[in-house]
Amino acid sequence: MRDSTVLVTGGGKGLGRAFAEALGQAGARVFITGRDAATLEETTEKLTADGILVEAMRADVVDGGAMKDVVTRIMAITGRLDVLVNNAVDPGPVGPTADVDFDAWWRTQQVNVAGPLVTAQAALAVMIPAGRGRIINLVSPAGIKRWPYATAYSVSKAALLKLSENLAAELRSTGVTVLSYNPGIVDAGLTREGMRFVGNTDDPWLDRIGRWAIEARDSGAFTPLDTAVKALVRLARGDADVLTGLVVNAEDDLDARISERRASSR
Ligand SMILES: NC(=O)c1ccc[n+]([C@@H]2O[C@H](COP(=O)([O-])OP(=O)(O)OC[C@H]3O[C@@H](n4cnc5c(N)ncnc54)[C@H](OP(=O)(O)O)[C@@H]3O)[C@@H](O)[C@H]2O)c1
Repeated sequence: MRDSTVLVTGGGKGLGRAFAEALGQAGARVFITGRDAATLEETTEKLTADGILVEAMRADVVDGGAMKDVVTRIMAITGRLDVLVNNAVDPGPVGPTADVDFDAWWRTQQVNVAGPLVTAQAALAVMIPAGRGRIINLVSPAGIKRWPYATAYSVSKAALLKLSENLAAELRSTGVTVLSYNPGIVDAGLTREGMRFVGNTDDPWLDRIGRWAIEARDSGAFTPLDTAVKALVRLARGDADVLTGLVVNAEDDLDARISERRASSR
């Protein structure tokens, strides 16, 4: 990915950090954003020490002006933006939807749906004129299947998946592709945090989520981090551009899906 520039939102920790590191190792110049300055600084120091060209910027994804400024800065430094990875996430409140705190629920939609939208708009302002670009929206099994008692997260990821699909159709003749990427359930980030709730919370719903994650891990349902990261790098490199608009899962046989798609569009 030499000579390409990538923006990973929420790149300071969890999966975003692992994606940023792998993209940097693949040769990309990487920009990461988030709200917590200390986390961003620590990640920047670590990646820089590993020889990765990385820069962090504090920006809340719900702040359209801040995300425009991020893209402006990237353009000033590198003159290009090849890939946007919409990774930042709010896991949202858990518990019966009948009683869920509406403001917390709505905040999740803002971070997980409006955030990727305003960031995509900022990126598209430079990608469309350039005639190329890739937007990769992180989705989840929670947005593909039902996820009762975690509807804020589930609904937001389902909406993001539809946003990718519609945006991809609108951008078909522009050279810009949009994919939904489901990394699977990974022992990292919010899933790892979730498992820590067990035995450490009075909230039965957080405890329930944590137990569910531990059960999934112990039954072998997790996707290895390395698999999730390698597939993301392939998408960022453009291997799966032909799948624009679709959901790609980390554990898919990507080459088979690409061949099928090429064959069906002939
Ligand atoms: N972990 C899994 O098993 C799993 C499974 C399926 C899908 N995913 C998806 O993978 C992506 C990464 O998840 P993760 O598990 O790595 O989550 P995570 O560890 O909780 O990291 C979330 C990141 O988002 C940033 N963030 C949160 N709110 C933000 C805001 N308003 N503005 C800017 N940045 C914000 C956080 O940084 P700050 O706090 O500094 O802002 C952090 O860097 C998500 O889209 C998630 O849905 C994860």
